[in-house]
Amino acid sequence: MIMDKDKVLQETEKMVKTALIDEKSGHDWLHIKRVKGTAIEIAQKEGADVFVVTLAALLHDLADEKIVESEEKALSEIRDFLLELGVDGEDIEHILTIITTMSFKGGNNRPVESLEAQVVQDADRLDAIGAIGIARCFTYSGKVGQPIYNPDLGVRDQMTIEEYRNNKSSAINHFYEKLLKLKDLMNTETAKELAASRHDFMEKFLEQFYQETREQRP
Ligand code: ADP
Ligand code: NI
Repeated sequence: MIMDKDKVLQETEKMVKTALIDEKSGHDWLHIKRVKGTAIEIAQKEGADVFVVTLAALLHDLADEKIVESEEKALSEIRDFLLELGVDGEDIEHILTIITTMSFKGGNNRPVESLEAQVVQDADRLDAIGAIGIARCFTYSGKVGQPIYNPDLGVRDQMTIEEYRNNKSSAINHFYEKLLKLKDLMNTETAKELAASRHDFMEKFLEQFYQETREQRP
């Protein structure tokens, strides 16, 4: 069977859109759509396999433990879905590896290896910074009941699980825990360039924020 790449991409997009259209934890369909667009742009500039990158970008959050009960089950469903569409076995395993290795999980994340994995990870990280990143951060904070900022807390790089449970962190604190670090974690030169202006925008936002709150910026 000769695989029709356009059809594979169309069918995958349709499936992901249906699965995530009502997602409220920051992994909604529009996040996926932005990551896909950015990933294709980076892939073209870096000479990565655009087909694999596009599929991995579309599928990258479908096995996240925040969304599904079992990561293993979700991965095996993705494998079956792609097999059914006639995607090459090697490409399928590559896509599954990308999905499992790229998520930012505290300090113990394995480094991603292939260029395609680096590209999709960069695109996902770019969506966590800049104006969109700020918006997502405050949305997430509202959802978990975390305050905008906590002047008694100061700025903390790492919170303990206990502190998280007691809701001691804040949206502003998340900038220091993660968002301001992301520009230096970009894998590709193209993503580093894209990250620079988004990072500067967050810096400007924080300047203005501390000015208006009359708190000392740490
Ligand atoms: P992804 O899996 O797409 O890398 P996450 O699931 O870690 O992202 O987070 C989804 C969004 O919510 C991101 O924009 C992230 O910055 C934000 N977010 C995650 N954890 C926190 C937190 N503790 N406080 C505020 N925002 C957060
Ligand atoms: Ni994502």
